[in-house]
Amino acid sequence: MNAEKRTKIKELLNETAYGTEVTVKGWVRTFRNNQFIAINDGSTINNIQAVVDFQNTDEALLKRVTTGAAIAVKGKLIESAGKGQKVEIQVQQLEILGDSDAEKFPLQPKKHSLEFLREIAHLRFRTNTFNAVFKVRHSLAFAIHKFFNDRGFIYLHTPIITASDAEGAGEMFRVTNLDFDNPPRAENGTVDFNQDFFGKATNLTVSGQLEAELGAMALGEVYTFGPTFRAENSNTSRHLAEFWMIEPEVAFADLNDNAQLAEDLLKYCIRYVLDNHPDELEFLKNRLLEEEKSKPQEERSEMDLLTKLHFCATSNFERLTYTEAIEILKHSAPNKKKKFKYLIESWGVDLQSEHERYLVEKHFKKPVILTDYPKEIKAFYMRLNDDGKTVRAMDILFPGIGEIVGGSQREERLEYIEKRMHEMRIPAEDLYWYLDTRRFGTAPHAGFGLGFERLVLFVTGMTNIRDVIPFPRAPKTAEF
Ligand code: 4AD
Ligand code: MG
Repeated sequence: MNAEKRTKIKELLNETAYGTEVTVKGWVRTFRNNQFIAINDGSTINNIQAVVDFQNTDEALLKRVTTGAAIAVKGKLIESAGKGQKVEIQVQQLEILGDSDAEKFPLQPKKHSLEFLREIAHLRFRTNTFNAVFKVRHSLAFAIHKFFNDRGFIYLHTPIITASDAEGAGEMFRVTNLDFDNPPRAENGTVDFNQDFFGKATNLTVSGQLEAELGAMALGEVYTFGPTFRAENSNTSRHLAEFWMIEPEVAFADLNDNAQLAEDLLKYCIRYVLDNHPDELEFLKNRLLEEEKSKPQEERSEMDLLTKLHFCATSNFERLTYTEAIEILKHSAPNKKKKFKYLIESWGVDLQSEHERYLVEKHFKKPVILTDYPKEIKAFYMRLNDDGKTVRAMDILFPGIGEIVGGSQREERLEYIEKRMHEMRIPAEDLYWYLDTRRFGTAPHAGFGLGFERLVLFVTGMTNIRDVIPFPRAPKTAEF
């Protein structure tokens, strides 16, 4: 049967041509009463039931039908007599394609914790939860490309190896092929990166923004969608050391255009998954309800997953300035009762995730776009406001997530950006190519970065970012 063409289970489950002969290939989920095999081939989270005539089947062959084994069955599609499924297969031929030792296979037909599944990430694809999560992840990636393509944006591939630190935060992974035990040294004793592969010190990119700006200042509207890397030692459920980021950059756009683009993109993506993944979302909704049963009432979500997604896809995001947000936070109950870990006392402090979540989940109860942050807590490339204190920054905050988007209108005025770089000790010589956009035909422009995994986290209702990327990279975590 190996050579025979298979029909995907997803198609068969909607089939009513009873009596047709079909071949299914997949992995055994369960085998009950020596008779009922639940087979899954990944095409859907639902299994098809294959019924074996065990009295007329070789016993040794039946013994090999174990959880995890790859099998092929050929038989008649019939209307199911049992509950829970419309069709099943009356098996005429059964073949084991790949055995799976039931004693050793780590995935048993029972509930496993997400923590355990993370340790066997190479096998967790075979569970319904991860089947659903990675299908939604795929569709979100597709939806993002479709959104931008439909609007005439150009997908720009920015470099993964670079010599610059776009965010100026110094959280970079070095890329080198120098001999670690005996690197060449300059006269002053420091490692001589002139002798390194690229003739200078290089690192993995933290953001494609600077290069995207170069593209936008000629092509008009571009976006990147690629892996980015940050060596920040944040062991949280929202941070990865390797994550994917979408970074649109638009010429002749200001911060309002930028906020609108981000809001449109987010709503489009949520709607796309609502329209295309009803089964997966239903499953993920129930998974979340189940997970939250063990939590105290006040920690449970107010809306179920589907209601939340519909809500965010249809309501207008709240827009306010950082200064307004500080006022709200200062007078908030958790601040007065000293419930925040970081109390809000004065203007200028950076917002922590507890503050962001308070604004979104308790105060406004909807997605929030915060703008015009103090320049001191933002990157060098953001446009300075006339007050001289704040910049045209925006962060989009989502329920359960906190910051999902970070962006800004860019400082297009050469003298302003040079001054800011000087203040922040960012060597202008190294970024001469970036500053050339401000020297030759500069123009207002804006862009943002959407953290892809944070979007997947939001849409799937998963609670740990390590469960929405196939192979998470985080401090002390680089398995598989
Ligand atoms: O706010 P960030 O650092 O902004 C930038 O990198 C800009 N260059 C973007 C731009 O304007 N083109 O990161 C953007 C988003 C964050 O809002 C967050 O969603 C995500 O990237 N992000 C992370 N996601 C997972 N793990 C991490 N360690 C992340 N750091 C940022
Ligand atoms: Mg940010």
